[in-house]
Formats: sequence, structure tokens, C-alpha cells
Amino acid sequence: MNDILRFLQTRNSAPRLTAPAPAGAELEEIFRAALRAPDHAWLRPWRFITIAGERRAEFGRVLEHCLRLRQPDADAAALEKARNAPLRAPLLVAVVVALKEHPKVPPIEQRLSAACAAHAILLAAEALGYAGIWRTGASSFHRAVMDELGLAGNEELVGFVYLGSREGAPKNLPLLDTANFVSSW
Ligand SMILES: Cc1cc2nc3c(=O)[nH]c(=O)nc-3n(C[C@H](O)[C@H](O)[C@H](O)COP(=O)(O)O)c2cc1C
Repeated sequence: MNDILRFLQTRNSAPRLTAPAPAGAELEEIFRAALRAPDHAWLRPWRFITIAGERRAEFGRVLEHCLRLRQPDADAAALEKARNAPLRAPLLVAVVVALKEHPKVPPIEQRLSAACAAHAILLAAEALGYAGIWRTGASSFHRAVMDELGLAGNEELVGFVYLGSREGAPKNLPLLDTANFVSSW
């Protein structure tokens, strides 16, 4: 089978990630792939923020603070979990949609384009031998987190792509039957 097709058909998220993460020229290649996301009217309605090293712990404090805002009665275990969440991978990429006014391109299309960019990051990382997983959660959609990351009023988080090297074996992929998802009209 065509190698590229096989690659696309077997992409596999990795919940457990460790060092190394892509950096330097390799990370640049990954972002170049993201910049080829389908994009109506070429609005380029996305940008990407990396969070690595010590900054992950600082970002964990932002997530903890956000949880306190959302759930003032959150217990110590929940707060610790939020604080440690960014430490689950050596590199996080916050995928941001920067919504633009356009007569033919509504916000939904721009969000979808940013989602495609996130997928491209996962694919490109895997193509380079790394692994990743797209994560969100309530904090991703909370303005306090967006403010801490420096997002403008017209910007939103689409999610976080956690990147690194796969820890453990890849999971077995389910064999889905295209017939259950495809019909002709
Ligand atoms: C928009 C979006 C948000 C997601 N958020 C989370 C999340 O917060 N936590 C999580 O474990 N998986 C999340 N996932 C699912 C994983 O990224 C992944 O797709 C899932 O573990 C299945 O693995 P697979 O991609 O290898 O099939 C999310 C996926 C999408 C598309």
C-alpha cells in the first residue's frame, strides 16, 4: 500500500509522552505543515504558542487558578491534577484561532481551519517520529486561561497539542468499517 496512505490510516494519539520533543528545525517543519491547513480566503486565522520547560509548571499554576475560579470548592487532589496537567508532555502547543471579519468566511469555518492545523501538527510530529495528543478540557475554553496566554479579544483556544516521544507501545487501533460511515446520496 502507498506509504503515505498507510501513515494517514494509522495515526495514533499518545496519552503518555516523554522527552525528547521536537525542537528547532524539526519543530519549524511541523509548523510549516500546520500552515497548510485548508483556509477559506487565506485568512490565516490561526497562531500557535509553545509552552515548554519551566514554563509548563507556570502554566500549570494558571490551570490551577482557573479551576479555583470555576470550582471554588475544588479539593486538593483536583487542584494538584490541574497544576500537573502540562507536565504530561515535554512540549505543549496552544492552537489559537484568531477570528477575522469576512463576508464569506464565518467564525465556524475559521475554527474548523484551526482544527485542521492542529491535526496537521499531530501528523507532522508523527511523521518525524514523535507523538502527540490533542487535549482540551474546561480550562481551554475559559477566558482567564486565554488572557494569561496573551490572546486578544478576537482569539480563542482550539486546544492544546501535547507533543513528545511515545511512552509505551501504541494502542491497537480499532478496525472501523467505512460502510458504517459512508453512503451515497
Ligand atoms: C477537540 C478535541 C479535544 C480533545 N480533548 C481531549 C482531552 O481533553 N483529553 C483526552 O484524553 N483526549 C482528548 N481528545 C481525544 C484525543 O486527542 C484522541 O483523539 C483520543 O485519545 C483517541 O486517540 P486516537 O486519536 O489515536 O484515535 C480530544 C480530541 C479532540 C478532537
